Amino acid sequence: MRHVFRRARLLSQLQQPLLLFSGGEIARNAPFTTYPFRADSNFLYLFGPCEPGCAAFFDSDNGKVSFFAPQRTLQAALWSGPRPSFEDLKQGLCVDEVLEVERLEEHIGHLRRGRPLHFLAVADERTTQRAQKLIGQEMSFFKAGQLGPPELLRALGSMRLCKEEDEVEEIGRAAHITHEAQLAAMLYTRPGIFEYEVYAHLLAAFTRHACQEAYSTILSVRGEVLHNTLRSNRLKEGDLLLVDAGAERPSGYAADITRTWPVSGKFSATAKAIYKVVLAANQRCLEAVRPGVGFAALQHLASQILAEGLLELGLLKGRIEDILTVGALGVFFPHGIGHPLGLDVHDLGNFGDILSEPSSPSAETSSGQPLLRMNVEFKEGMVCTVEPGVYFIPQRIRSVEFQNTFGEFIDFEEAERYLEMNGGRGFGGIRIEDNVLCTQTQPIVLSSMIPKQIAEIEALVGTAYR
Ligand code: GLY
Ligand code: MN
Ligand code: MN
Repeated sequence: MRHVFRRARLLSQLQQPLLLFSGGEIARNAPFTTYPFRADSNFLYLFGPCEPGCAAFFDSDNGKVSFFAPQRTLQAALWSGPRPSFEDLKQGLCVDEVLEVERLEEHIGHLRRGRPLHFLAVADERTTQRAQKLIGQEMSFFKAGQLGPPELLRALGSMRLCKEEDEVEEIGRAAHITHEAQLAAMLYTRPGIFEYEVYAHLLAAFTRHACQEAYSTILSVRGEVLHNTLRSNRLKEGDLLLVDAGAERPSGYAADITRTWPVSGKFSATAKAIYKVVLAANQRCLEAVRPGVGFAALQHLASQILAEGLLELGLLKGRIEDILTVGALGVFFPHGIGHPLGLDVHDLGNFGDILSEPSSPSAETSSGQPLLRMNVEFKEGMVCTVEPGVYFIPQRIRSVEFQNTFGEFIDFEEAERYLEMNGGRGFGGIRIEDNVLCTQTQPIVLSSMIPKQIAEIEALVGTAYR
């Protein structure tokens, strides 16, 4: 029923008819070898999970919704099994009619009655091209500003941004399953095995709950490579293992949670010191999530705590205010503090700046400056990530440009020591990422059950082998 209400709410804001697509299967290498099908998030939000190749027409004049599904042929039944009849689909989805998607162009010709049509691009480019022909306008899922008309993005985006109760429950379930997965990874960590062996335990937990990965899991002793998805390193004593993973529920809702732990099960004194700084930033930022506070304020708070910590450890020098103004912290903390979470991991990330506060730009991209994906103010019902980190990245620490620019504020010799630690493999990186629901009062941390205190972690790592 919730999908029906959402469609009604959207319809009440439409000035023009709207055509939406679920998208189709996307080939991985050969045409029949495809990625698992995953419907477009806007479509999931309005209809729930569906088969590949569906579409829907929203009539802004009479409020009717026509749903399009693939024909029920003998051939389709042979390869894909039985599917609900069009009549059953109509009842189940509470739509006004179900039509054959193979005859979409012909049906749309009648339905639109000469009116201009709105449309949102999807990741499946063949589908986007099909729609482009109908509306006669170039669009792209991947280019900011070409996803769809701004007024439509604003209407749908603000609906999706604040989560309803059932959506929060789904993200909560994804977080619980990710808890099981992260715990398995901790328990099965030990020196001598490969990252992919630990990954197998994590993935088993997702699979046990009929979940997929919401994104390619980052599970690496080279956590300073921010999107390291290779998982081919051997774990060694002294390494830190960074695991950034999230289950995606069959409904499409995701978790996005990072923990970092020592392969040996014991934090070194240096690792402990950096970990405590990141943990302090994580905890203080989580507590600060309140209606009216935005990502920019959170970014500033995290930066302040991280800079104070690194100053105390002798990695930074000078006044905190100056360090932050020139962007020197960005050498060690080169990403945003968080992002909305929901059906997309970076929820509504491809909506561009349309939902950002008009007065404050969403991202600072100059060298070394932390990046902010979207600068919205938190509202009750918003779910977002909080993910501070500190990384020792050789290319940044040894960058002549950074050394010239930030020499006054960074002790590059001290930073170099971190790169030489651990038999020359380097310190790596630490990130601690949680998922949090903004309420009128105390924020609710949906991933709070996943251990992150030093003592808790040390008591768990490697215990599957004892
Ligand atoms: N897993 C990607 C991110 O944390 O944003
Ligand atoms: Mn993450
Ligand atoms: Mn994240």
